[in-house]
Amino acid sequence: MHDPNSALIRPVRNILGSLRVPGDKSISHRYAMLAALAGGRSRFDNFAPGADCASTLACVRELGCNVESDEKNVVTIDGRGRQLQPPSCALDCGNSGSTMRMLSGILAAQPFTSELIGDASLSRRPMKRILEPLTQMGAKIAAADGDRAPLRIAGGKLHGINYRPQIASAQVKTCVLFAGLLADGKTSVEEPARTRDHGELALRAFGAELERTHTAVTIAGGQILHPLEAYVPGDISSAAFFLCAAAIFPESNLVVDDVLLNPTRSALLDILSAMGSRISMLRVEEQHGELVGTISLVAGKGRQIRIEGAQTALLIDELPVLAAIAPFTAGGLEVSDASELRVKESDRLSAVTRNLQAMGAQVEQTNDGWRIPGRQRLHGAEIQSYDDHRIAMAFAIAALRAEGESVIHGAECVAISYPGFFEDLERLVER
Ligand code: S3P
Repeated sequence: MHDPNSALIRPVRNILGSLRVPGDKSISHRYAMLAALAGGRSRFDNFAPGADCASTLACVRELGCNVESDEKNVVTIDGRGRQLQPPSCALDCGNSGSTMRMLSGILAAQPFTSELIGDASLSRRPMKRILEPLTQMGAKIAAADGDRAPLRIAGGKLHGINYRPQIASAQVKTCVLFAGLLADGKTSVEEPARTRDHGELALRAFGAELERTHTAVTIAGGQILHPLEAYVPGDISSAAFFLCAAAIFPESNLVVDDVLLNPTRSALLDILSAMGSRISMLRVEEQHGELVGTISLVAGKGRQIRIEGAQTALLIDELPVLAAIAPFTAGGLEVSDASELRVKESDRLSAVTRNLQAMGAQVEQTNDGWRIPGRQRLHGAEIQSYDDHRIAMAFAIAALRAEGESVIHGAECVAISYPGFFEDLERLVER
């Protein structure tokens, strides 16, 4: 039976050309939430166009901010200062864990009750990780089974805490820092491993002061934010699909313009270099604390790659596509300490294993990662997205090097982070 939401991917000969990817999702969420708390109008160019950030914008609008966005991805938000307006209905976070977890930090400090809901995937994802610190700060939050959406947040006065999360999660860190901004006293978060620091950089860009030591970050409550005008750099986790595609075609040459190069997000470039690709930075500059630049990649042959420990946290969103291309690399890939992948938009550990197996790949799934030998030949297959944008895109890339056609079922979910993904891919492939 024909599936209208499927995408047909044919093998290609090469990846060639240049592109600009949509604005970074992590930064867009944070800018939109902080703009709501700033006094005055913020304006963002190249705001992330996917459904996830649209969920954040819809919530911010429901919380009383005037939000305008156009087809060129320019977004303006009229902030309300520290106090938002009580919502008239449940705040729908859609598929977006970032929206639910980070916005909870802000809502916990508001003098009203709000309810946060999400789609089936988000409603399965763990929330205890934010309930625990917010409750310690004085918040009253009810959750299904004490761990899942819907969340009912009875907001009120919060006090600062020193928090040491068990898991390395930028969403948790940002949630606690946002709550800390609105709390009495000082709040600090000491991470078990370094995660993306866009929360900290965005708070600074909006005028807040933070202290940072090697492992901890501290914010004093009661600081006033001013509005921000900023360009959102291209999302390196979206560029990752094309960079990984280029890495598995020996004659490839790819340039990505205006992409985020924040060191807490760009570990992929080190991995692709170790896999043999030659990567050059053609221009790098700083914008509101974030590094942005143009990079070029030419493929080559490299060694076996092991990703483990602290590096896993820095590559968490890129692991599915790295695993999907691993069979085509010279040395293969071994990943461990990645059990967080089980609680993303899908169980990404199993989703990757099943799709690789469907393509005839040899792959060993462990408790917290995979072992995937290199130099394999894969055949086209029926791929399942599991309604997970990064799984759909990862296997659209693997399918380019397979023998025969592949069909990606449930491919429309790419719109969560990258609505124009298949069009951009089509422009870069040589048949
Ligand atoms: C994100 C952090 C990561 C990542 C997600 C976006 C963020 O999640 O997987 O796509 O913007 O902070 P965790 O913080 O839960 O690991």
